Amino acid sequence: MTISAETRDQLRELAARYPKSRSALLPMLHLVQSVDDEVTSEGINVCAEILGITSAEVTAVATFYTMYKRKPVGKHHIGVCTNTLCGLLGGDAVYSALSERLGIGHNEPSADGQFWLEHIECQAACTHAPVMTVDWEYMDDVTPASAVAVVDRLARGEQVESTRGPVIRDFQATEHTLAFPLDGLVNDGVAVDAKMLVGLRLANERGMSAASIPAGDA
Ligand code: FES
Repeated sequence: MTISAETRDQLRELAARYPKSRSALLPMLHLVQSVDDEVTSEGINVCAEILGITSAEVTAVATFYTMYKRKPVGKHHIGVCTNTLCGLLGGDAVYSALSERLGIGHNEPSADGQFWLEHIECQAACTHAPVMTVDWEYMDDVTPASAVAVVDRLARGEQVESTRGPVIRDFQATEHTLAFPLDGLVNDGVAVDAKMLVGLRLANERGMSAASIPAGDA
């Protein structure tokens, strides 16, 4: 796909937001993924041209961070956290069930272009382990059966909500939000729930507090 004049304008808009324009590269690559479903070679070249850096420098960033893909993701990105806590609490079983249901392995797209499956690292959501993400929206406390049910519903074109509220859109829509976060959805869903605050409640009940930082170390 060709990067359109409109997308070029949006890429320039992102570049202009930072004192050093190359700081905009991460959101620019998300924008490329939002229109191309992957980081294309053309997208890399356009980012390099706008930022005045080399295509090799852009490629180095695009291949370092795992959120950037060099082949089309498809409609929905499915991530399963298999880090220690999620893995121990069932994340490995969730991943295996999804891999069997979709017929694909790590970092692979399904043949029908509907799904991409990936082992992902800790999502800072261990309170609700095991955690899965759909287009980077949380699905908390999943089981193999509930994870497969989510995929089945998406495959049938049904509306699916994150366990924290937001409606699942698709990968490219999420990528656009990652490029331009102030799209009105920032307060959608539940940011903090009682389970996440158990540690804080217990600390308060027991009069515990964090050790103070010695002067000069702050
Ligand atoms: S280990 Fe899975 S969210 Fe932290």
